[in-house]
Amino acid sequence: MSLIQPHDPILLISEEGKRYLVFAEPDSAWYTNRGRLPYDDLIGRPYGRIAETHLGQKFLVLRPTTSDLIQHLKRTTQIVYPKDAARLVMELDLMSGKRIIEAGTGSGGLTMAFARAVLPEGRVYSYELREEHQRVARRNLDRLGLLPYVDLKLRDIAEGFDETDVDAVFLDAREAARFVPMAEAALTESGLFAALQPTVNQVSEVVRALEEGNFVEIRVEEVLIRPWKPVPERMRPADRMIAHTGFLIFARKLDASFRTFWLDKRARRRAMEFGKLKNMPPVSGR
Ligand SMILES: C[S@@+](CC[C@H](N)C(=O)[O-])C[C@H]1O[C@@H](n2cnc3c(N)ncnc32)[C@H](O)[C@@H]1O
Repeated sequence: MSLIQPHDPILLISEEGKRYLVFAEPDSAWYTNRGRLPYDDLIGRPYGRIAETHLGQKFLVLRPTTSDLIQHLKRTTQIVYPKDAARLVMELDLMSGKRIIEAGTGSGGLTMAFARAVLPEGRVYSYELREEHQRVARRNLDRLGLLPYVDLKLRDIAEGFDETDVDAVFLDAREAARFVPMAEAALTESGLFAALQPTVNQVSEVVRALEEGNFVEIRVEEVLIRPWKPVPERMRPADRMIAHTGFLIFARKLDASFRTFWLDKRARRRAMEFGKLKNMPPVSGR
């Protein structure tokens, strides 16, 4: 059984279901209008219990998941929601040893999820334009012991990336389409690209940029999760759900020497979709 260690993150949940993320700092306490809870009462004990404040208010003491951390870490920017983060970890094929570039860092919530996926052998190179955001991200990652797996870079990505031959690139910045050529230059052959963009016109621009570059397997997705009320006698969907967060765009890099052949194929497929194939010339090249 693993016990709560000094500085460990803890998720406290009130009887009404309010959730709080705290860190177990020795000789310190969590203060709330429901009373005081000394962290020393939690340190050295297991998670999965109930703790009481000095006013007798009860809280569940749980180990926070990556999803809890993303939602409750300090933030100064819009964040990538856990539903989208999970899809990104899967589709960018992140596992120990992989090297991924991310921009922008924002508050570091997604950086944390990426670092947890690629450690201990892999690395996240995370670029951010604004120092105040990077400061918050650094603090969040440090508190979770993840800084050894992340390079935080303060830079406008319009200047390009330092790394080459990376396994994956993820863009979460305005005008992501502008940065597709930088992503292509940094990616290894067959490397994985993803971007998150909030509006469809931005998505169109990214897809166009990918088509102009050497990318194949272009896909656009939206992730919708519909929660249910888990009451066995009255199972039904919850009243609310997170509707729109952003569109996810995925693609893979193709060796540039195969571009002409592939573009021919793409043109033929599109023509077929529009019923114009009979006038198309045969596929040329390889
Ligand atoms: C929506 S936030 C990223 C949120 C982050 N993915 C998270 O989950 O916390 C977008 C970030 O990109 C940064 N950014 C925008 N344009 C940039 C650029 N050209 N180069 C580097 N960072 C940029 C912004 O300052 C902002 O912090």
